[in-house]
Amino acid sequence: MDNTHSADASTVPGLLAGKVAFVTGAGRGIGAAAARLFAREGARVLLTARTEAELKAVTEEIRSSGGTADYALCDLADGAGVRAAVDRAVALYGRLDVAFNNGATTMPPGPMEQVSEADFDHVYAVNLKGPWAAMVAEVAAIRATAGTGAIVNNTSVGSLMGNPALPAYGALKRAVNSLTESAAVAYGPEGIRVNAVAPGTTLTAMMRAWDERSPGTVDRLNAHTPLRRAADPDEIAQAAAWLLSDRASYVTGTVLPVDGGMQAV
Ligand SMILES: NC(=O)c1ccc[n+]([C@@H]2O[C@H](COP(=O)([O-])OP(=O)(O)OC[C@H]3O[C@@H](n4cnc5c(N)ncnc54)[C@H](OP(=O)(O)O)[C@@H]3O)[C@@H](O)[C@H]2O)c1
Repeated sequence: MDNTHSADASTVPGLLAGKVAFVTGAGRGIGAAAARLFAREGARVLLTARTEAELKAVTEEIRSSGGTADYALCDLADGAGVRAAVDRAVALYGRLDVAFNNGATTMPPGPMEQVSEADFDHVYAVNLKGPWAAMVAEVAAIRATAGTGAIVNNTSVGSLMGNPALPAYGALKRAVNSLTESAAVAYGPEGIRVNAVAPGTTLTAMMRAWDERSPGTVDRLNAHTPLRRAADPDEIAQAAAWLLSDRASYVTGTVLPVDGGMQAV
């Protein structure tokens, strides 16, 4: 094999080299995979969620692999807490370039007449008001420091179709797609790109909990997925990393399904 033109991996700059990244829901699942990946790709990363033990473990893992990371506790339902976490990234690293608004909660699966008002209100506060508060704080921080940047929201392929098993979750995720488009239009002129990823079935605690409550869910979803399997969390993180990177410099206002083709069926 002729390797004359192959690049030495150690000399290729990372996808997010030099950037400061803010990741919500970074203690486990897709957010933890994203924090690890963003750090491997050269970003300094501020991780947030509510469970300190999980955040600490991922942060230490990143540091022991030579990356730069720290964490801040925050509940996405608390706007002041979200703003304080974004401010912490700027205080620690002096700037903010990119953010992955990934953290979210779910609810017991079932038809809409079984959704309790309390569950609806909680999912609204965490999954819609949280990303809204985060985007507002992130745009302010990017403007005040890096000047230009990018934001990716994590929604769901279930936001792009009827979602009878998780109706309120699906509706609020669709609302985040709308906020994504609105933010892309509002902040595009100043060089801040805003996109979303819409994952399909991804093997995390959230998906395992759904499968435990409704046994056979993952198998059923996989049977409706052209690639016939669930995603590893890193496969979703890879799409977010690309959208946040300068390689996606002309991409804004899009909701990218990362779903093994489920949405195409
Ligand atoms: N897994 C899938 O198949 C799938 C499919 C489509 C979309 N998604 C989306 O992908 C994202 C990540 O989900 P995942 O599957 O990785 O779930 P996960 O493993 O349950 O992780 C969720 C993360 O969000 C954090 N979180 C939950 N409630 C929070 C709150 N009130 N305040 C702050 N952080 C909170 C959790 O930490 P704490 O509990 O410690 O706060 C955790 O770090 C979510 O937006 C989810 O809707 C997942």
